[in-house]
Amino acid sequence: MLAVTTLATLALSTTALGAAVQRRDVSYSVTGGTRVPIKDPAPVAISYEFFAFPGYVNDVGATAQCVKNLDDAAGAPTRIRIGGTTQDRATYDPSLTSAVSYTVASAGAAPLTLTYGPSFFDLAGKLSGPTTIGLNRRLNNLTNSIAAAQQAADTMGNLYAFELGNEPDLFSSSDPIAGGKTWTPSADAASQVSWQASVSRALNKTDIIQGGVFLQPPKWSVQELGPVEVSSGSLGYVKSFSDHSYPQSACGGASTNLQSLQSHSGIVSYTKGFAAEVTAANSAGKPLFFGETNSATCGGGGISPTFGAALWIVDYVLQAVLLGYERLYFHQGGWSRRSRSMVVADKPGTIGNCQYCWWGQYDTGAPYYGAYFAASALGGMSTISQLDDGTGSIGVYAFGDTTSPSRVVVYNSAYFTSGARSYTNITLTDMIGSSATVKRLTAPYSTSRVDQGQNPTFAGQMFANATCAIEGTQVTEEVHLEGGAATFSVGASEALLIEFKAHKY
Ligand SMILES: *[C@@H]1O[C@H](CO)[C@@H](O)[C@H](O)[C@H]1NC(C)=O
Ligand SMILES: *[C@@H]1O[C@H](CO)[C@@H](O)[C@H](O)[C@H]1NC(C)=O
Ligand SMILES: *[C@@H]1O[C@H](CO)[C@@H](O)[C@H](O)[C@H]1NC(C)=O
Ligand SMILES: *[C@@H]1O[C@H](CO)[C@@H](O)[C@H](O)[C@H]1NC(C)=O
Repeated sequence: MLAVTTLATLALSTTALGAAVQRRDVSYSVTGGTRVPIKDPAPVAISYEFFAFPGYVNDVGATAQCVKNLDDAAGAPTRIRIGGTTQDRATYDPSLTSAVSYTVASAGAAPLTLTYGPSFFDLAGKLSGPTTIGLNRRLNNLTNSIAAAQQAADTMGNLYAFELGNEPDLFSSSDPIAGGKTWTPSADAASQVSWQASVSRALNKTDIIQGGVFLQPPKWSVQELGPVEVSSGSLGYVKSFSDHSYPQSACGGASTNLQSLQSHSGIVSYTKGFAAEVTAANSAGKPLFFGETNSATCGGGGISPTFGAALWIVDYVLQAVLLGYERLYFHQGGWSRRSRSMVVADKPGTIGNCQYCWWGQYDTGAPYYGAYFAASALGGMSTISQLDDGTGSIGVYAFGDTTSPSRVVVYNSAYFTSGARSYTNITLTDMIGSSATVKRLTAPYSTSRVDQGQNPTFAGQMFANATCAIEGTQVTEEVHLEGGAATFSVGASEALLIEFKAHKY
């Protein structure tokens, strides 16, 4: 995490930027930092809430294009997980002709019970990326979950793994799986490894289960489950482990805070809180994902649809990949515990009605711009390094192959909501070539929302509402390199994707 501070840039920071700027380092070598492998080709992944998945692919016109944009940015098909609270309310019915069947008490609510049929897996099998399916463990019907798993395995050429239960930390003694006993981490671990063995043996498969699926490590965690996988002999059935992560919550009237959500130093320290999970997954020899994640639970508390949440996605994805979480499945379409309070009067009960979701029937939201930016930064790259020390408001990351960096992200997390935007100059050194190209992610304010008419832009372009088509002409900024160095100006609540030649031709 070393950064180079030259005399020239010290002079800049004291004279041009003035005393208000407290950054120690405003100059970074693009070859600095510790290079960490980017293990997955497409770390920016999608989680669809179980009951909402068929609606997303059948009824939301933007879905295919929004996913394709991410595929193109990553250079690999977007990874998908279908699950969430309603996977543990679902019963498989092999005779059901529709993909899913349920009724809801009110528009925008999540079903308390639902059935799904074989065509659920026909739809899932058509997704281009590796796909993980969440099965029910809470209702304790192993026969039913095995019947569903068998149908999925027979249907889906893109099957990645099965989850057996969602967020078992939230199961209680009154859930059938608990058998009337107190539900504890050790009871859950015993149940997980037993179900893993039963489902995997029924399918005659190993490496087929996504274990964990915990909301609240470390009490419920891969740290706690991993040793039981080993001692029970079930580890061979495990393909991957997952944790869920929501940095903020509006549950029970809790307040949310956009400034702290998008804070670079806050994101660095939040993500580091999961380090022991990475260590546990590494010692089990399995990949670890954020299998479900997004900004704020229980309706988003007003912050989830904003441009600041897009900036959070950028920095959080990069920090998670640096730490060792190989994918982040951003959750779409939950209404129950993750319900959305913003019910648009004339658009009730639509999939557009979800605060942190990236797109819906009507709008392509601000957070999607952050996802697309992060996928673009990581796409095709095999290493990432953090150049800043993680304590300031500015994050700087370099990306490259094993021999040479060719991309940098600069993120200025200073919270900007009104008045004139402040700009910070960041100097990068040791680039190759004669110029660098800047693609700027910006919006009027951190609080900007697409549904309120304040559209973000990435390299001057936007994503069309309802179709997700990329709109407008790409606008990039060319910056001349002087001895491999150049200075880049990044506004408060903006991020830059800087590309330069890895080799001089
Ligand atoms: C940033 O650098 C540019 C020249 O590269 C200079 O014109 C501008 O004044 C600088 N801004 C600040 C805030 O120092
Ligand atoms: C469990 O599922 C099977 C079919 O998969 C069904 O026949 C059975 O009734 C279910 N058991 C309970 C207790 O719901
Ligand atoms: C189970 O899978 C193994 C290897 O994949 C195969 O050799 C074996 O025949 C299979 N057994 C059954 C009963 O299908
Ligand atoms: C999307 O629709 C909203 C209204 O819901 C509008 O304010 C916004 O400008 C539109 N964005 C684009 C990119 O067309």
